[in-house]
Amino acid sequence: MLTIALPKGRIADETLDRFEKAFGEKFIFEDRKLIMEKAGFKFLNVRNQDVPTYVMHGAADLGVVGLDVLEEKEYDLIKLLDLKLGRCKVAFGLRAGEKLNFDKSKITIATKHEKIAKKYFEQKAMAVEIIKLYGSIELAPLVGLCDCIVDIVETGETMKQNGLEVGPTIMETTAHLIANKNSFYAKKDLIFDLKDKLEKFL
Ligand code: PRP
Repeated sequence: MLTIALPKGRIADETLDRFEKAFGEKFIFEDRKLIMEKAGFKFLNVRNQDVPTYVMHGAADLGVVGLDVLEEKEYDLIKLLDLKLGRCKVAFGLRAGEKLNFDKSKITIATKHEKIAKKYFEQKAMAVEIIKLYGSIELAPLVGLCDCIVDIVETGETMKQNGLEVGPTIMETTAHLIANKNSFYAKKDLIFDLKDKLEKFL
């Protein structure tokens, strides 16, 4: 049995579609249930940011999570496979018409990707104040909470509809299959078999 933590929402649905193709069975969470057992798998329906936590603690052998979340959490996990799902980027969002002003003595950024933003400014040896938010990030520069934001951009529509422009990209991200280190050694055959099957449907 392999336990797999999936991030609630579209990525979970798209991952389960891949399993359907690979194993010829339907995998659907019933109504509000957070666990689904089928065909030798136990799927867990968890919040995106919580996926590495479940895998890290061994409560799940495997997980599906965006590279940005992995980068943000810096967990010691094995990256098994790029599922090529949920392609998006972590980028700056600026008030329309404004540019990133690198001459300013200190830039204030609102983001839920604190570490990624911090690293970017460390590499540029620039002072930055980071304000941690948990959502609706696009609102922050509009009401003067920050100079600009660092956030996930997929189509760019959320920024556009909130009077922001997409600025420089910090990183590209897609959903990856990850493994707990102990599980990886203890269940190597099962894990490689799954990886081979999923790879055929990328
Ligand atoms: C992300 C991000 C933006 C939106 C961008 O939120 O924070 O709000 O998607 O997508 P777009 O460029 O296609 O408009 P997400 O849906 O991941 O929800 P979350 O804030 O709960 O993480």
